[in-house]
Amino acid sequence: MSGILLRGGQIVDPSQNIHRVGNLLIREGKIARIEISPHPASPSSGLSLGGDPSQIAVYDVSGSIILPGLIDLHTHLRDPGDPEKETIATGTAAAAAGGYTTILCMANTDPVNDSAKVTRTILDRCNRSAKVKVHPVGAITRGLAGKELADLDGMREGGIVAISDDGETVANADLLYRAMKWAASSHTLVISHCEDPDLSRNRPIHQGESALNLGIDGASPLAESLMVERDILLAEATGAWLHLAHISTAAAVNLIRRAKERGLSISAEATPHHLLLKDEDILTAAKERQGLFRVAPPLRSRFDVAALKKGLREGTIDMIATDHAPHLEQEKNLPFSSAKPGMIGLDIALPLCYQLVDEQKNSNFTFSQLVERMAATPGKRLGPILGQSSLGTLKVGAPADIAVFDPRPEWVIDSNHFFSRSKNTPFVGRKVQGRITMTFVDGKLAYQRMQK
Ligand code: DOR
Repeated sequence: MSGILLRGGQIVDPSQNIHRVGNLLIREGKIARIEISPHPASPSSGLSLGGDPSQIAVYDVSGSIILPGLIDLHTHLRDPGDPEKETIATGTAAAAAGGYTTILCMANTDPVNDSAKVTRTILDRCNRSAKVKVHPVGAITRGLAGKELADLDGMREGGIVAISDDGETVANADLLYRAMKWAASSHTLVISHCEDPDLSRNRPIHQGESALNLGIDGASPLAESLMVERDILLAEATGAWLHLAHISTAAAVNLIRRAKERGLSISAEATPHHLLLKDEDILTAAKERQGLFRVAPPLRSRFDVAALKKGLREGTIDMIATDHAPHLEQEKNLPFSSAKPGMIGLDIALPLCYQLVDEQKNSNFTFSQLVERMAATPGKRLGPILGQSSLGTLKVGAPADIAVFDPRPEWVIDSNHFFSRSKNTPFVGRKVQGRITMTFVDGKLAYQRMQK
């Protein structure tokens, strides 16, 4: 076969302002041609196949949406170190099943990715078993201990694209300043986990009604906003490209908005769980399921969630990232304060976030904007670091990293269907609409949903 034709789908590519029915042709791993139908009602009419039809594998995707493969700047693959939770093979299978074609994997592995050796190990394993494109994130400090800088140059040569102590906050401003200086001169993204360690230590829940109800000490939103403002000021002073991970509070959204108004090159992400869940949801869960709701930073108040959604709509929150964080059942099935923080997200992020589109119909959050936040904007942030100008787009000539999403089926999230090795998410049992049916990476089928 000399090509693949996706026929009759709704093509959604915010980077080209396309939202029309048409055909998309893949050749030699790249997007070769897009034909927009002059007759949206009968998509196949008026379009030619382009080339010898017998040499082309044709997929009829009418009724489905063809979109650029999703890009996630925040995943934990637990490889090396925790194969019972996840491996590069299982985590990237979950990514492909969720429509992701490029992901960044965080450094809190075992051993920590703080040296060129570990970076190379990760990339070697990716070459052998990854189903999607993976770029490692290196640690900022050795062992994530916050005491001395990791081998930044070695890791950059080894292949990292970003540095982060994610899971931990770098408390020492001088170390972070030096890391940002280095990052600015070596075109590396700095991904910040913003939780003041003193304000958040032993406070695993948002400071509010739910904390009071459960009798657990809660962390103030200040724990996040103090660090967000510090890191913005450090980025301003050093010229570093700063990306703020898992933003959860209204106060932080305001600070980011102001920093952007000053023209700073910063970006910010929110997770599906911080956008779709509130701290009070913990109380509605059965006691033995409450640990599933523990994440760092914690789920916040209604007020914070509303501010986060507004930030997402207006673009202050540039993108959605999963913070896919696999844990074992026995680490989550514990009283809230003893459970490990984190939930998985790669398999289900798009159908979950599709609910934001429904929910916000009146306030104009369109599917196209959702694709922008999950593919185009992360692509724009990562593109310059990789030297790729067409990441997260369906532009002709771009690598054929593509997802096909059928927006019609209604279904209930079932952990038996996860490709991730872990099952820790409170979204199991939630009714959602729409699912990924195919994912292509460099024009090769990385995932195809089995027909029942
Ligand atoms: O909830 C979280 N879990 N937040 C993080 O920042 C780290 C992650 C993990 O690695 O489990």
